[in-house]
Amino acid sequence: MPAPLPTFDNLRIAVIGLGYVGLPLAVAFARHWPTTGFDIDADRVEALKAGHDQTREIEADALASATDLALTAREADLAGCNVFIVTVPTPIDEAKRPDLGPLLAASATVGRALHEGGVVIFESTVYPGATEDDCVPVIERESGLHLNRDFHAGYSPERINPGDPARRLENILKVTSGSTPEAAAFVDALYRRIISAGTHLAPSIRVAEAAKVIENTQRDLNIALVNELALIFHRLGIDTGDVLAAAATKWNFQPFRPGLVGGHCIGVDPYYLTHKAQQVGYHPEVILSGRRINDGMGAHVAGRVVKLMTRRGIHPGTARVLVLGLAFKENCPDLRNTRIVDVVEELRSYGADVDVHDPWVAADEARAKYGIVLIDAPPAGSYDAIVLAVGHGEFLAAGVDAIRALGKAQSVLFDVKHLLPREAVDDRL
Ligand SMILES: NC(=O)c1ccc[n+]([C@@H]2O[C@H](COP(=O)([O-])OP(=O)(O)OC[C@H]3O[C@@H](n4cnc5c(N)ncnc54)[C@H](O)[C@@H]3O)[C@@H](O)[C@H]2O)c1
Repeated sequence: MPAPLPTFDNLRIAVIGLGYVGLPLAVAFARHWPTTGFDIDADRVEALKAGHDQTREIEADALASATDLALTAREADLAGCNVFIVTVPTPIDEAKRPDLGPLLAASATVGRALHEGGVVIFESTVYPGATEDDCVPVIERESGLHLNRDFHAGYSPERINPGDPARRLENILKVTSGSTPEAAAFVDALYRRIISAGTHLAPSIRVAEAAKVIENTQRDLNIALVNELALIFHRLGIDTGDVLAAAATKWNFQPFRPGLVGGHCIGVDPYYLTHKAQQVGYHPEVILSGRRINDGMGAHVAGRVVKLMTRRGIHPGTARVLVLGLAFKENCPDLRNTRIVDVVEELRSYGADVDVHDPWVAADEARAKYGIVLIDAPPAGSYDAIVLAVGHGEFLAAGVDAIRALGKAQSVLFDVKHLLPREAVDDRL
């Protein structure tokens, strides 16, 4: 007889990992049940207690009004919780292999706090099988409890889109799953309380894990195709944006844009899937070739900027270049796996003196992660080339004249993301 699941009038929820995913989730659950938000980063916890969310996902007043949310970096404060939701990072290592370190550490933390009847739900993006084959054994070892007899598990992938004011946690349909039909029904009902868009109950944890990882793999590949088209059309002397605009008039043409694929999701998650595929003896070709194309786009952009400068008689070795934007996407301070560093490094490898400006990014984080010293206010009339790399609202509001004014008379303006009118820039991806 399995240990009974908790009843909804007696839930104490713990969210493990208070980042982009965990913090909004903890705030949402705290509207319904007493919730403990736990993070190993004591500085992050202190900042949140003071009302400051560095990810800019939750405003200070929302944090202040979450009276049923206890924030802590002390593992002991998890005692008494009966639902644990794990939202820690799932990065890759330098060899692009999944690094399950944070996930297994969080599993151990949960295992030490878990009691009979408890439920452990993972939200971190993983490969199919990670929850049951990698995380559950750690929980069982630390707790001395057994899955589906003494405790229950679930997996519900996150689909939030940081920086997007329209798509918030509550209004994105959520996939749910559980280790038994009863656990699945519990997990599904739990999320239905906070997700107004509803849920999709997947038939197993592995299906839910696979669904999440292919959502991002599909996006990565779609962008890789358009990036490859951009490489071809550049050689043919055709503007990719013009081609895409024409093709998009067909009803079933998918409107993807070329670009740098950064962040900790789209450029990372496919490696979780390819790793698992290789473990079972299948060597993915399409997925990995898409990754190779996307990873090469930073060097391609830099090469085109250098060529444009050279054609105007500007020697790249003595050029001053301004890169506008370092975050991996617009209106977001997230620097993880930003591929704009490839543009900066490649330009520097030609000897160019490169300044980077990003009003969203924390300067100390840029220095610590990439050794890039951000400049606050790029001086007017100073640059031989300007690379508009990220579509932050500030850059769009400034407009093309203000951006051009930062350059010297003969300067090159390269628009990576097709943000400005075609005729206002010297080239675009
Ligand atoms: N950010 C997104 O847009 C997004 C969207 C969907 C899915 N995801 C996935 O969700 C997961 C979390 O991503 P994120 O963006 O919130 O990461 P994040 O880096 O913003 O936050 C993770 C937090 O977990 C904490 N942490 C690390 N190890 C811990 C441990 N052992 N115990 C407790 N806390 C720990 C970190 O200090 C950090 O504050 C990842 O698997 C990611 O792929 C992210």
